[in-house]
Amino acid sequence: MNIEETIFKRQSCRTYSQTPLDEETIEEIKTFIKQAKPLNKNIKWDYDLVTSNEVKSLLRWDAPHYLLLFSEEKENYKENIGFIFQQLDLYLQSRNIGSCWLGMVSPNSNYKNKNPQQKFIITISFGKPATTTHRKIEEFNRKKLEEITDTADEKLKPAQYAPSATNSQPWYFTHNNDGTYNIYRKNFGFIKKRTIGKWNPIDIGITLAHLYITNKETFNFHIEENPSEKKGYTYEGTFEL
Ligand SMILES: Cc1cc2nc3c(=O)[nH]c(=O)nc-3n(C[C@H](O)[C@H](O)[C@H](O)COP(=O)(O)O)c2cc1C
Repeated sequence: MNIEETIFKRQSCRTYSQTPLDEETIEEIKTFIKQAKPLNKNIKWDYDLVTSNEVKSLLRWDAPHYLLLFSEEKENYKENIGFIFQQLDLYLQSRNIGSCWLGMVSPNSNYKNKNPQQKFIITISFGKPATTTHRKIEEFNRKKLEEITDTADEKLKPAQYAPSATNSQPWYFTHNNDGTYNIYRKNFGFIKKRTIGKWNPIDIGITLAHLYITNKETFNFHIEENPSEKKGYTYEGTFEL
């Protein structure tokens, strides 16, 4: 299956075979990460590939591989991590490798950080799935297109299907007169802000990755100095499709 089709079939994988992937597959994954497009090329980022011995997890399951993601803390660094590594999530699932973004998993004391200048952001698990990594489009639990945009627009459908922390889907899209779009992030209340709030900027990068993958030649992102404000939301950027 190609990566574009995967957008409408993927699902988070939480049951894995504990057998590691072969070396060749791991090398292909590393090669894919190297060529992934960043949202903001001014930000340094890095990752480390580890096993369950090096992570602390509040979950009841393990995966054979974990990617710890790191970044410099500047500008839209969380969106950038979401954007780069959602391309990987799609690539893995297009190859029938299961994966899951994991806010609840972080490095433990066995982990020796090779790059202390950068901050740990989030983890992704991956490996051979014990069951299928794919589902039917009608099995997705997502907001309706009309709920996430000012004008229902088929071009935004790939964004609608993006994964997000606790499936919060914090994105909202508006159409500008010049044909560009704005993306906003929902401001959650006090409680939710303390839990999923730190991951919601990652979700924004994730949904933008779906729009990039489906509009590779034309996707262009920038941040306006004086954007239109939207009540209850934070402006995240402007893009072309
Ligand atoms: C930033 C982020 C953090 C997440 N953290 C966790 C987590 O800690 N544990 C977990 O089981 N799933 C986690 N998920 C997976 C989401 O729950 C999942 O993507 C969402 O419910 C939509 O389901 P789907 O990915 O199967 O489409 C996370 C997803 C994102 C994008």
